[in-house]
Amino acid sequence: MKRREFVCQAGLGTIALAVACRAPVRGALDSGGATDTQNPPRSMVDAGQNRPIEDGGNPREVDGGGTRCSRTEPDIEGPYYREGIPVRSNLNIHGDVGEPLTFAGTVTDLACVPIANAVVELWQANPQGDYDTSSSEKRYYGQVATDAEGAFSFTTLMPGRYLNGPTYRPAHLHLKVWVGNERKLTTQIYFDDDPYNESDAWYDAARSVAVNQGLATYRFTV
Ligand SMILES: [Fe+2]
Repeated sequence: MKRREFVCQAGLGTIALAVACRAPVRGALDSGGATDTQNPPRSMVDAGQNRPIEDGGNPREVDGGGTRCSRTEPDIEGPYYREGIPVRSNLNIHGDVGEPLTFAGTVTDLACVPIANAVVELWQANPQGDYDTSSSEKRYYGQVATDAEGAFSFTTLMPGRYLNGPTYRPAHLHLKVWVGNERKLTTQIYFDDDPYNESDAWYDAARSVAVNQGLATYRFTV
């Protein structure tokens, strides 16, 4: 069975079916990746009113030439990226105790035009601060495609902090954004008010998000 067929037959809801079946999947989908459920966050994001998603800390400028979105700055990939990230939006599937997090947003171009079918890959530490560096489950690794409005969302648990040398890195998410087969962005997202942000070598306030009632949003501009 082809990879995409497998995804499409995995008992997904109607919305997820539409997204997953058209998704330009990157890399190999392992069989553990078919647990995807497209949860409600999209409606949480735009409330059905077709208004732009909130941008988190990402500036949007309006001048005589129209709306311009600032290109999202790259950040280091780090050592834990893995090929073949499973197609799934729900990463909270391992029964871990943690703080629920929905990370949602959009992918746009520099003119703030949403990009449909962009692939967003997310990988992160579990709530204890550990990455799944070896198991075939690829825990807390997931990729989704943006919908027609350029929107995506993941449900997960807040990543734990981990030691990098003598100091903790602040909680963060790692992401890549692909358009077609072109990697447009490798970056990290941080969380407002993390006590380790300011001492971190890579933290950038422009890529820091607030978490409100478990929801954090960000616009990636590539
Ligand atoms: Fe990391």
